[in-house]
Amino acid sequence: MFLSRSGRICSKRLMSSTTLRKNMSTATDTSSLLQYGANVTKGVARITPGIMTKGRGSYVEYDDGRTMLDFTCGIGVTNLGHCHPKVSKAAADQCMNIVHAQCSIAFHEPYLRLIEKLLPVMPDPSLDSFFFWNSGTEAIEASLRLARLVTGKQNIICMQGGYHGRTFGSMAVTRSKTIYSLGVAPLMPGVFTTPFPFWHQMGLPVSTPEDELVKQCLYQLDLVLSQQTAPSDTAAILIEPVIGEGGYVPAPPAFLRGLREVCDKHNMLLIIDEVQSGFGRTGRFFAIEESGVRPDVLVIAKGLANGFPLSGVISRRELTDKLPPGSFGGTYAGNAVACAAANAVVDAMHDEHVIENVNARSAELFSSLNALKSAHPDHVVDVRGRGLMVAVEFAGGESLASRVAKKCIEKGMIILTTSVFDVVRFIPPLNISEEDLKKGAEIFKQAVEEVVREG
Ligand SMILES: Cc1ncc(COP(=O)(O)O)c(C=O)c1O
Repeated sequence: MFLSRSGRICSKRLMSSTTLRKNMSTATDTSSLLQYGANVTKGVARITPGIMTKGRGSYVEYDDGRTMLDFTCGIGVTNLGHCHPKVSKAAADQCMNIVHAQCSIAFHEPYLRLIEKLLPVMPDPSLDSFFFWNSGTEAIEASLRLARLVTGKQNIICMQGGYHGRTFGSMAVTRSKTIYSLGVAPLMPGVFTTPFPFWHQMGLPVSTPEDELVKQCLYQLDLVLSQQTAPSDTAAILIEPVIGEGGYVPAPPAFLRGLREVCDKHNMLLIIDEVQSGFGRTGRFFAIEESGVRPDVLVIAKGLANGFPLSGVISRRELTDKLPPGSFGGTYAGNAVACAAANAVVDAMHDEHVIENVNARSAELFSSLNALKSAHPDHVVDVRGRGLMVAVEFAGGESLASRVAKKCIEKGMIILTTSVFDVVRFIPPLNISEEDLKKGAEIFKQAVEEVVREG
């Protein structure tokens, strides 16, 4: 795949399918499998056609020969690029030692080694008690259980626009789109929603100063605690430091500090969901570091193992010592292969100076997107985010985001929309090269220009 002098993206996709098939000497014929797509539940949506057969760094390949630049990272997971050689090797090696050493039967080495490696990067030294799970939603469920068990209180306050997963507890605290819990109520009771400082959600202009948004939201939280759920009934406040499925909106540090104060005052836990924002995505190991706020519970997943299913709930021993042994666990929780991969991820993050790369590429991406905003002020209303968790919000009304994302896919780059607003999100690999970042930004620019021209 390459960018021609005219700026056009060229890839194998442009060859005739006969030539393509001849060129794919090593590929197995998978096209006949596509018929079974009809047997996959309709509940799963998909943004690209065909079968993804390979991933290498910032690119993925499909069975028909298409090569695509991947600005989704499988929704913020393959942060070190697809099939990072050290991560894949660590997992393969672990497969030859032990695959499943169930967490309630025995410790395994990668599990304890991972704790050794994660302790020094925790956003607060008080976070010293680990429980590994498989997915983000399971870890959220565990964090809610933990909050109820250790505080002896039941209610949870979550953020409007927040996303935490698709199992029942997580669905109950998800407030980004109705689709996630449509038709399946009643959900877990005891959940209350408070406004998140996002101008669009509050019906305010994009120019509203951040401190005004924070002031209003902290005031509303006070009202939630005096009108809806008393502090003596409230176990925890749950928040993503950068709201993901709600539109890629960073929580202002002053808001997070305000939440910390409220939690301290009322003996409630502050649960920080870094499933999507963690592991370098925002230009720091954890997004919460920007505010200096101490989480009582930190939830991690996605980039933790670069594609192997692994999540974690991290808290203080002082709290988790209250849990009855046997109350936490799960057949596959903290799988040895996934933990081995995660160990290699942490090593690569340090050895390959990944966070430095995030910050350098982030500056380039912001510069390109801000230039686009200046060129199209009537269409691009907001460019926001942290590190390589970046969003462009369009003026709305014309579904520009989905049209632009579709065009990007046609031009050889996978990119996602997010939220109920008109937003495209950028989640490129954290170790993406300057050249590939530039290529992606150029594809996006061309897509926006074409969509704007088409009206
Ligand atoms: C912030 C956040 N929390 C929780 C989840 C749920 O994670 P999973 O899809 O692994 O269950 C997600 C998934 O996108 C997420 O972005």
